[in-house]
Amino acid sequence: MRITVIGSGYVGTTTAIVLASLNHQVIGADIDTSKISKLKKGILPFVEPGLNDLLSEMLKTGRLNFTDNIVTAIQESDVIYIAVGTPSREDGTADLRYLQAVADRIAGAINGYKVIVVKSTVPVGTNRWLSDYLSDKIGNPKLFDVVSNPEFLREGSAMYDTLHPDRTVLGGMSGHAIEILKEIYQPLGSKVLITDWETAELIKYASNSFLATKVSFINEMCRIAERAGANVVEVAQGMGMDVRIGAKFLNAGIGYGGSCFPKDVKALIATARELGVELKILEAVETVNRTQPLFYLKKLVQTLRETVDKPWIVALLGLTFKPNTDDQRESPAIRIVEELLPDCQEIRIIDPTIEFPDQTPWPDERKVVVCKTVEEAFSAADAAILCTEWEMFAKINWEEAVRCMRNPILLDGRNFYNPEQLRAAGIRYLALGRGN
Ligand code: NAD
Ligand code: UGA
Repeated sequence: MRITVIGSGYVGTTTAIVLASLNHQVIGADIDTSKISKLKKGILPFVEPGLNDLLSEMLKTGRLNFTDNIVTAIQESDVIYIAVGTPSREDGTADLRYLQAVADRIAGAINGYKVIVVKSTVPVGTNRWLSDYLSDKIGNPKLFDVVSNPEFLREGSAMYDTLHPDRTVLGGMSGHAIEILKEIYQPLGSKVLITDWETAELIKYASNSFLATKVSFINEMCRIAERAGANVVEVAQGMGMDVRIGAKFLNAGIGYGGSCFPKDVKALIATARELGVELKILEAVETVNRTQPLFYLKKLVQTLRETVDKPWIVALLGLTFKPNTDDQRESPAIRIVEELLPDCQEIRIIDPTIEFPDQTPWPDERKVVVCKTVEEAFSAADAAILCTEWEMFAKINWEEAVRCMRNPILLDGRNFYNPEQLRAAGIRYLALGRGN
């Protein structure tokens, strides 16, 4: 099959590489010329474990190419995936301007029958709108079919998830187009759910929103556990032993971030509102998540106030919204830096994916220091905060850290460490909802 994937971000690039590995002839296309020139050279424009090797391998086969010429990319393929961003607008609705720009390109370039596959996360009604829009612009509805094929990969395990999907959801009206997609995905052997456009779109939002709900739910249990002297880690363990509940997505912490949960929860609330439905549960999920980093931070600030005068020096471990990605979008760690900065002399950040010089636009950048080593971050620090559970932070020698720090306090924002071990090393260990 000749396939073009428009949008070479986390989803589009992963999709293009994996489809090439399934023996298709694939073109990855993007308007961002710097991304395309990196990809052509075999360099991933983002961090994603394992994907760089498969990219190099696929480029060598000649089955995978990248271009910034969107028109040619459309004309050379029979199946066109759309994987452009759908960010939040101010009012929480999804901004579909990139999708519309691609629709215009397709309408202008179409040179024969195409299956158009919407991989981007789009609000209910968008695939139907796209089909009508293209029909109007092209003037011949027989020249294309639109299939909704939402993506469920996680950053940090994008390649594994794409090669081993739990399910493939295909929504659309054309049996012919759906058969083509079933054939494309057949080697992956996943369960396939065939449905209509609206249901496929809602499955995607419902899935992300449900996972976000699990996270906010356990974060509320964490708040109760904190007051009641219970241990939230064991609460999650006990809940997770019930197969109806499941053990995953019950890690309490500073809250969920990333390019998807925050925007997709907001967009689903906005879509529902447009349809005259109020999503009370999801509104609460959002509120809990928004306040969660500050709830954690309060404990550290109180302890610091009792121990040492402001302004403080704080070491911040991890800036990305989760480990194994360089994605800082909506990371709760950023919220923590912004909140703490006015009371600090310096916040020293260490994260294995930060490029030097750091490009993040901090409110007071003189006070933000990006460190290359843990020792540098800990030197004379009044406290440390673990925001992202990167593997490198599991290897910290805490006896040494205690010697480096002015005040050996650690706020564990992900319940990552064993409290007894850290306390034995001389750290004043602050967790939440773990009975201290
Ligand atoms: P991204 O921001 O990493 O990449 C989007 C790419 O689209 C960018 O490279 C941009 O230059 C390109 N683009 C924008 N307009 C274009 C145009 N007119 N023509 C060609 N290229 C254009 O986004 P992402 O994280 O890959 O997400 C893409 C979509 O997939 C979103 O709807 C997102 O919600 C969804 N999604 C993302 C993930 C994830 O883990 N990141 C997982 C599942 C679904
Ligand atoms: C999430 C979904 O898991 C994917 O299925 C989906 O395709 C994707 O969003 C998307 O639509 O973009 P991702 O955002 O990459 O994937 O990361 P997750 O592993 O889901 O984590 C999201 C956030 O929740 C992270 O900040 C993480 O730290 C937090 N989290 C997760 C918790 O706080 N506790 C948990 O138990 C699990």
